Amino acid sequence: MRNVGRWLIAAGLAVCAVSIPAMSHDHARGVVKERMDMMEAMAKRMIAIGKRIDEKRDLASIKGEAEAIALQAPHLAHLFPPGSTQKPTDAKNTIWKNWSDFERKAAALEAESKKLMNASPDEPAVLGAQFRAVSETCGGCHEKYRVRRRKGDL
Ligand code: HEC
Repeated sequence: MRNVGRWLIAAGLAVCAVSIPAMSHDHARGVVKERMDMMEAMAKRMIAIGKRIDEKRDLASIKGEAEAIALQAPHLAHLFPPGSTQKPTDAKNTIWKNWSDFERKAAALEAESKKLMNASPDEPAVLGAQFRAVSETCGGCHEKYRVRRRKGDL
């Protein structure tokens, strides 16, 4: 994870994969829980993809992981209905003041994860670069619209 760890941090993810289960929010409810679950599912996929790129193995299976992210991305914005600021959310109120920007950032995630899905497993350098591009769409949104909370988060 040495190389991709940096990009996962840029995505606003903890570097260490084992911290993921600890992130589950049993006390979150409704749409807040739904979006946290969705985000965590995407994070697990990103970590799996990152590991494969780092270890240069099983690159062909990155396509399926990227596709799953690309299929979730169009639902992301729907999981942020106005007023869904119930605890323990980390979503900032500025989301709803900059709604079209928020939607654009979700669309960027969809576009970049589709490119990753279509990248050839025979070109590890291209895969790596496109993985970083996806990470940047995660991190770009978190930086603006998510409260920083955990150690290791950006
Ligand atoms: C369009 C904006 C946006 C994009 C793109 C985005 N996220 Fe998020 N993410 C958020 C917001 C806002 C929250 C806080 C949600 C809350 O706490 O209600 C969040 C929360 C999270 C969390 C914490 C979930 C929890 O249990 O508290 C993880 C992990 C995460 N995102 C991973 C990702 C990954 C990985 C990607 C890219 C593949 C990504 N996100 C893309 C906006 C985004």
